[in-house]
Amino acid sequence: MSSSAQAAEKIIGYQRVDRGIDSARAKPFVKWAGGKRQLLPELLSRIPTSFNRFFEPMIGGGALFFELTPSYAMIADVSEELVNAYVMIKENVEELIDHLGRHEHSEEYFYRIRNVDRSESYRRWSNIERASRLLYLNKTCYNGLYRENSKGEFNTPFGNYKNPKILNADNLRACSRVLQTTAICYGSFENILLDAIEGDFVYFDPPYVPLSTSSSFTAYTKSGFNEAVQLELAEVCRGLDEKGVRFMLSNSYTPFVLETYKDFFMEEVQAQRAINSKGEKRGKISEVIVRNYK
Ligand SMILES: C[S@@+](CC[C@H](N)C(=O)[O-])C[C@H]1O[C@@H](n2cnc3c(N)ncnc32)[C@H](O)[C@@H]1O
Repeated sequence: MSSSAQAAEKIIGYQRVDRGIDSARAKPFVKWAGGKRQLLPELLSRIPTSFNRFFEPMIGGGALFFELTPSYAMIADVSEELVNAYVMIKENVEELIDHLGRHEHSEEYFYRIRNVDRSESYRRWSNIERASRLLYLNKTCYNGLYRENSKGEFNTPFGNYKNPKILNADNLRACSRVLQTTAICYGSFENILLDAIEGDFVYFDPPYVPLSTSSSFTAYTKSGFNEAVQLELAEVCRGLDEKGVRFMLSNSYTPFVLETYKDFFMEEVQAQRAINSKGEKRGKISEVIVRNYK
């Protein structure tokens, strides 16, 4: 267990589900924009001490999900490629491991694999091939960040790493074990309102509201996540609150977020973040954790 998880256990004494040594080691299998690894202690110290099912409808790399290894969970995302990778890791991890072992590491090969989503033949790729491509690109592209252009094509350049760890079979198997009792869905967060019931716990980690009004709202996928969608998300939170479902949400510390969630319990926390678009400059910025429980 990581030191952050141990610290959080000490603070609130939540019960970690024991799934055996391997799955306790499961870590996110992709690096994802907005990944929550370094905010984990703040998040872990605020989760309810007990709940029935865990929902994370914007799973991304799933930092909190893998740290919690909940007994019963539902995870979702609008990134079709990402959701396919989760499903393949859950259902067919050995075939995926075998396929991942076959990739080469060269710039020429990288661009051939990256650009295949611009061609008709990509439609005929199997789900395993697509999952393998996503994991390969994530480990070898610049800054390890998945990014799509407006046509939904992967467009991060080559990373030029000396010896990237394209295959981590132990971790994929550990992730697969954690996913066995997890429902994995492709779709938008609104569906959560129908599924979650009293006693369940939902964590939302949306694409953040930009800090300055000059930067546009972040687009993680071709769908984008603009102001109207942020307001829709707040409506979903209100709906969950009315149903007696506990939720926690993280977002940037901005006047827009503070106003939008003013009816709930909000706390400012400090997070280490890339503060320019290339991720070269890092610094502490304020984020907010919203909850409908204390
Ligand atoms: C900040 S990231 C989540 C990072 C994640 N917590 C982690 O630890 O890696 C936001 C995620 O929301 C997803 N997303 C964007 N719009 C969505 C929507 N309408 N419904 C569900 N997920 C969405 C993105 O694809 C992205 O994976």
